[in-house]
Amino acid sequence: MTGVNAAAERRLTVVVGITGGIAAYKAVGVVRDLVKRGHDVHVVPTEGALRFVGLPTLEALSRNPVTTSVFEDVAEVRHVSLGRRADLIVVAPATADTLARMTAGLAGDLLGTTLLATEAPVIVAPAMHPQMWEHPATTANVAVLRERGVRFVGPVVGALTGDDAGIGRMAEPEDIVDAALAVVGDDPGSPAAPSGTVARGDQGDLAGVRVVVSAGGTREPFDPVRFVGNRSSGRQGLAIAADAAGRGATVTVVAANVDAGLTEGLDATIVPVGSALELAEAVHAAAADADVVVMTAAVADYRPAEVRPDKLKKEAQGDTMTLELVRNPDVLADLVAARRTGQIIVGFAAETEPDRAARLELGRAKIARKPADLLVVNHVGWSAGFEREENAIEVLVPGGEVVRETSGTKAEVATAILDLVATALT
Ligand code: CTP
Repeated sequence: MTGVNAAAERRLTVVVGITGGIAAYKAVGVVRDLVKRGHDVHVVPTEGALRFVGLPTLEALSRNPVTTSVFEDVAEVRHVSLGRRADLIVVAPATADTLARMTAGLAGDLLGTTLLATEAPVIVAPAMHPQMWEHPATTANVAVLRERGVRFVGPVVGALTGDDAGIGRMAEPEDIVDAALAVVGDDPGSPAAPSGTVARGDQGDLAGVRVVVSAGGTREPFDPVRFVGNRSSGRQGLAIAADAAGRGATVTVVAANVDAGLTEGLDATIVPVGSALELAEAVHAAAADADVVVMTAAVADYRPAEVRPDKLKKEAQGDTMTLELVRNPDVLADLVAARRTGQIIVGFAAETEPDRAARLELGRAKIARKPADLLVVNHVGWSAGFEREENAIEVLVPGGEVVRETSGTKAEVATAILDLVATALT
């Protein structure tokens, strides 16, 4: 990711706010990683965080003094100076209480004052139990914070404190650092932009256009080590993201289980997700102020009804096993339903039907069901479409007309699709 590399070349002043959740011990990894990448890191723990991780550890790793109180270093006006000096603020983990405090603008401790005094981008990595994350109060707080330009990384699905599992686990430290540095890739001093991206090209036919691409395939866990998944590698989505960035667009990639090596060097903000529910949330957040949304990701239509906290044992199952699945939301259909005037939405239809005419009929039925501006039909099978460099597509518009048909490398196919998008935008 060039954004990350560009940020890594500059020494940024990064404030890491650590709040009082069990994931605080993992936030130590965020501090260590940022220092390792050459940044000047100032840790601001809450009192609660210090019950989970010791102050000397944070001082040793960050190589800077650590305080929680607004009454230390008063002469330096530390309660505002840190926020004003920061190029970037990362809050990890952010508890439900922290999100509520941030929403209300509470300034009862050094982290609160720092967050109020800053104009730097703020990245938040929530961690809490699923019930707390899904509570309407938290959902409303997250929406307000997003509206103000705060970016979210995670939470992800996984094992939680105790025997629980589900959505609410803090994203991995490396993913948090990658997402945070990508945000300041080009412009460390600017206030947080409302979208999840800052890298902006100024040339090409998509200059200034905000493009969101979902890529990869979702994984639907049913226990801590297993999931129901699909073979999508994310290559076609990444080729679209790369082409869009090359044409001047500001690009966000919501990457479902995409190999990190494939996104290296890509001029885009990468939002890693795992399951369909995580993807839905990340895409809707990014789409709120996007001009173009391209839904390349293979999103699972169903997820296991139950995510077990421990590994499912075959002794308990016998010779056969039944996994109950429940429907996932259809992200593309929801995007189309909520589309703003002028927003272009592109859907994909991966079809195994080898016969062109029959395949197009399937595509026509799909675009009739979900009237995206463009539907890219691509032929997949045991040996076609997935994990390969080549692709073959037909592009349909509502009404069913084929407006483009091409095959070639995924980069060539990406260019063909974005040519149509650029035309649709004009
Ligand atoms: N999609 C989505 N949310 C889902 C499922 C799919 O947004 N829960 C999107 C995909 O990203 C893709 C398009 O919808 O752009 C695929 O349409 P869909 O009708 O779901 O295709 P299939 O999953 O292949 O459906 P079917 O098995 O019914 O053909």
